Amino acid sequence: MLGHWHRIDGEVLHGDARGRELGYPTANMALDRLHQPAFGVYAVFVDVLTGPDQGSYKGVASLGVRPMFGENKPNLETHLFDFKGDLYGQHLSVALVAYLRPELKFDSLEALIAQMDKDSAEARKILADG
Ligand SMILES: Cc1cc2nc3c(=O)[nH]c(=O)nc-3n(C[C@H](O)[C@H](O)[C@H](O)COP(=O)(O)O)c2cc1C
Repeated sequence: MLGHWHRIDGEVLHGDARGRELGYPTANMALDRLHQPAFGVYAVFVDVLTGPDQGSYKGVASLGVRPMFGENKPNLETHLFDFKGDLYGQHLSVALVAYLRPELKFDSLEALIAQMDKDSAEARKILADG
C-alpha cells in the first residue's frame, strides 16, 4: 500500500461505554475542524503512542454521529482487533486506510452487531493484504 492515509491523532476520551455491551469496545476521540473526512466506517491502522500498550494495531472505526443512538456530536470510535487493554487518556494516531460504508440506522441492536461483524471481517481482510 503506497501513498499516505488521512490520520486522526488525539487523546482517548470517555464514551458511553455502550460499545462494551455490544461486544465492540471502542476508543473514542473528538474531531476538530481539520478532521472531517466522510462519515462512515473505515478499516484502520492504529498507533498507540503512550501508555503500557504502546504499539501498532489493526482495527475498524466509525466516524460520525451514531444515528442508531440519536444525533450526537461527531466523533471517531475505534475498535482494536484482539485487544484487551484500557486506552483511556492515551494518545492514538488512527490511519483511515479504506472506507467500508456509510453510517446507518438499523432496526435493532442485533442488526447493528451483525453488520459490525461483517465490517470487522472485511477490515481484517483489507488490512492483511497490505
Ligand atoms: C465497526 C463499527 C461500525 C459502526 N457502525 C455504526 C452504524 O452504522 N451506525 C451507528 O449509529 N453507529 C455505528 N457504530 C457506533 C456504535 O454505535 C458505537 O461505537 C457504540 O454505540 C459505542 O459507543 P460508546 O463508545 O460511546 O459507548 C459503529 C461502531 C463500530 C466500531
